[in-house]
This record gives sequence, structure tokens and C-alpha cells, in this order.
Amino acid sequence: MQTPFLLGPRLYFRPVERDDAPRLAAFVNHPDVRRNLLVHRPMNTAQEVSFVDALTASQRDVLFAIVLRDGDRMIGTCGLHDMDFRSRRATFGMLIGEPSEWHKGYGSETTRMVLDYGFGTLNLNRIDLQVLEHNVAGIRAYEKAGFRHEGVLRQHHYVDGAYVDTLMMGILRSEWKPLPA
Ligand SMILES: CC(C)(COP(=O)(O)OP(=O)(O)OC[C@H]1O[C@@H](n2cnc3c(N)ncnc32)[C@H](O)[C@@H]1OP(=O)(O)O)[C@@H](O)C(=O)NCCC(=O)NCCS
Repeated sequence: MQTPFLLGPRLYFRPVERDDAPRLAAFVNHPDVRRNLLVHRPMNTAQEVSFVDALTASQRDVLFAIVLRDGDRMIGTCGLHDMDFRSRRATFGMLIGEPSEWHKGYGSETTRMVLDYGFGTLNLNRIDLQVLEHNVAGIRAYEKAGFRHEGVLRQHHYVDGAYVDTLMMGILRSEWKPLPA
């Protein structure tokens, strides 16, 4: 393992490095990935370096690389964003950037690990997110981790030729169930 920060059953989180930028660009440009992330312009490596630098410097963001413990390969990123330390809330984001690694439970494990970090380490009181209505795997992973549906932004985005709703979801500290140690 390379600079592990947080260990899960099959994954670990580590800092994102500038050297990860080419891989991040490959993740976010993939058509199946970007349609869930609202990326509508090509992203190059230089933009990803700027992204890593900006989030690393920001006190309101935490960004992790998601790495498979078996094989030590980065498969995505996740983080907490727009952190408000007075209201003790943050917004969760994640991507598993290789579609061949989808549907193996990694999104669910990532969600649980980020909640453990947000509530257990940062002492947040609320974590929320927005997800497009067609992102069935994401919605299911969030529901299983304890997120509740809090609202719908109707026809909020235009994706692949149609307007889609955005679902707002959130979880409170009192609803959080930590991963078993
Ligand atoms: C969303 C994402 C993180 C999900 O990751 P994943 O590793 O595939 O998720 P999991 O394997 O943990 O699956 C989560 C649940 O969704 C279910 N699921 C997956 N695809 C499904 C589908 N097409 N229909 C119904 N259920 C589905 C899984 O069965 C699982 O539920 P279960 O444990 O009850 O069986 C991943 O698809 C991704 O990164 N997509 C691109 C970026 C993105 O969408 N980020 C989130 C933006 S809000």
C-alpha cells in the first residue's frame, strides 16, 4: 500500500497526487462516467493537475484516491466538499472511474468509508449529495449507507438529449451506522 490514510475491507484511501492526473483525466472523460458527473467538455491532464492542487489547498475540501487493496490500483476518487464547520455539514462526491470495476460493491464500501471519516473523524453533523435520477447504482449505494431522499430538483440538468431530475439526499450523524471495526 502506498501512503494509506483510511483502510476499508477491500479498499483503502490515500492522498491524490499530481502524478495521478492522467488517470483522473481518463476517468472523467469516459462517456459512461461523465454522463453521471455532468462533465460536458473534454478534460486534459493539466486541468486535472489544477483540480488536484486546488482541492489539496482548500480547507473546505478533502479528496481521496480510492485504491484496491488487492493489486494496489487506483480505481477512483471520492471526497467531502463545501465543508461548513459552523453548521458541521459537507457534500459527498465519488467516482469509480473504470466501468469494468462497477457493480462489485466498491461504490457502497466507499460511501460507508467516507461517512465514517466525515462523522467519526471530522465530527460533521450532516452529509448531503445530489445525484441524477438515472444513476441507479449511486442511489442504491447511498440508500444502503443510510442516506434519505430529501427532495427533487425537476428537470435540473440536460443530459444526452433529455432533461433529467436531480435527487437531493442527506444523512445526519444520528442516522449513521459505522462500518464494523
Ligand atoms: C455510482 C458508482 C460510484 C456506483 O459504484 P459501484 O461500485 O458500481 O456500486 P456498487 O457495486 O456498490 O452497487 C451499488 C448498488 O447498486 C446496485 N446496482 C448497480 N447497478 C444497478 C442497476 N443498473 N440497476 C439496479 N441496481 C444496480 C447494486 O446491485 C448495488 O446494490 P446491492 O448491494 O443492493 O446489490 C459508480 O457507478 C460510478 O462511479 N459511476 C460514475 C460516477 C458517478 O456516478 N458518481 C456518483 C455521482 S452522484
